[in-house]
Amino acid sequence: VDYVDTLIADIRRLKKEKNAIILAHNYVLGDVQDVADFVGDSLELSKKARQVDEEVIVFCGVSFMAETAKILSPEKKVIHPVTAAGCPMADMADAPALRRFKQDHPDAVTVCYVNSSASLKAEVDICCTSSNAEEIIGLIPEDRRIIFLPDKNLGANVARATGRQMILWEGFCPTHMRLRPAMLERKKEEFPHAVVIAHPECRPEVLDLADYSLSTGGMLSFARSTEAKQLIVATELGIIHRLQKENPDKQFIPISEQAVCMTMKMIELEDVKRSLETLTPKVELEPDIITQAKAPIVRMIEQRL
Ligand code: 13P
Ligand code: SF4
Repeated sequence: VDYVDTLIADIRRLKKEKNAIILAHNYVLGDVQDVADFVGDSLELSKKARQVDEEVIVFCGVSFMAETAKILSPEKKVIHPVTAAGCPMADMADAPALRRFKQDHPDAVTVCYVNSSASLKAEVDICCTSSNAEEIIGLIPEDRRIIFLPDKNLGANVARATGRQMILWEGFCPTHMRLRPAMLERKKEEFPHAVVIAHPECRPEVLDLADYSLSTGGMLSFARSTEAKQLIVATELGIIHRLQKENPDKQFIPISEQAVCMTMKMIELEDVKRSLETLTPKVELEPDIITQAKAPIVRMIEQRL
């Protein structure tokens, strides 16, 4: 039996012994996705984390996702196998800076993309993900101004789709920022019959060239139901693993081989095994932060302001 098979067998055994569930994001390494009990986008993972029976959640994704799981299930042990796996976009906004920003726009409703720290969420009115941002904006009365943070691209894309004016924060995803309209134009010339699906963290000029703007979970459902046999995929490369696995008869063409989020690749099978053995590193948050950050996440899940 080879090394990886042994690791996988050990992880499966430890999972039972420790009463643990493994949750993974669609961008993590393929073999980590394959050993997980549930793989999804940010919204699907939040909903799942809210209703797990197991005592331990091993979260394979970036820090803000593991924090969200802890906020929604504070009584569980939530383990994030590699603490250093953060989201550079989430690091572009912090609570003190938001407090100063809000002083300039005191009457605005603050909408925060889940790609943000727990302490930032503690300061906002409602959260959103890339799959529900338009619905969340739709909950806000027309006469209220909106601060949207931290992703200026998602903000601009949602502002266009909803026709609402939004005050945008200067944050972005470095991985999606690297995807340029010219890259997509070239792929479209090469594959003229392909349907283009793009993540709303892409620049608006990239989305202009796409057929559909979708979260990672939205991409997976779209791929399952479409008649198209060729799809150009404008998002992080990790998604290709599941797209191809679930749709072996279709061809998925990444917009660029450069679309790699380094921190999403930091958790390896070895880390998952060690985490299950030691039940560390645990996600720990101040009880006050948990209470304050939970409110905007629950408002998002329940779609009420
Ligand atoms: P999704 O919610 O679409 O999975 O996006 C998460 C993310 O980090 C995208 O970069
Ligand atoms: Fe953050 Fe971008 Fe990586 Fe998603 S792909 S985790 S937004 S840096």
